[in-house]
Amino acid sequence: MEKYLGEIVINRKQIKEKVKELAEKISRDYKGKSILIIGILRGAIIFLADLVRELKIPLEIDFMVVSSYGSSTKTSGIVRILKDLDQDVKNRHLLLVEDIIDTGLTLNYLIRNLKARNPASLEVCALLSKEGKQRVPLEIKYLGFSIPNCFVVGYGLDFNEKFRNLPDIYFLKEEAISEG
Ligand code: IMP
Ligand code: MG
Repeated sequence: MEKYLGEIVINRKQIKEKVKELAEKISRDYKGKSILIIGILRGAIIFLADLVRELKIPLEIDFMVVSSYGSSTKTSGIVRILKDLDQDVKNRHLLLVEDIIDTGLTLNYLIRNLKARNPASLEVCALLSKEGKQRVPLEIKYLGFSIPNCFVVGYGLDFNEKFRNLPDIYFLKEEAISEG
């Protein structure tokens, strides 16, 4: 499988610094409030685990599992909720934590779905966003890095469920996608 890994896009040191920076911003913005962190499984787990340990505000954590129809490297835009939140989010401050935004369709669906439950506020924190790929306008208040439009793995991000455990983020070689 390692033969499918290309260059490192973002290394662990850069990730660590960025997570700290994002956490500082979030802690400042929500000072005096408590928030509910919503992680989108499974890609966001590593990022979320690092992020929450840097946050200086009271928080709770809940998870959603969503699946979007499509191949392993392309989203169709049709999202299905496989596991919903355990908590009622009415009047709560929500922070949606996502690993990567590609077309933005998954997030767009989730934002609309969560807003309909009348939270006090809803913001998004995403580690990565692909340049020029968004098909719907999204407002990402807390964004880690913009990356070129390539498939990446590591630090929670997978290709067919592999590579999530890598501490750095790598480009996936084209042949991995064509050979599946
Ligand atoms: P979107 O709906 O097109 O924005 O796709 C978002 C979801 O697709 C993310 O939550 C990821 O799970 C997955 N995804 C998109 N691009 C990548 C990538 O480069 N590597 C790994 N997963 C990706
Ligand atoms: Mg995924």
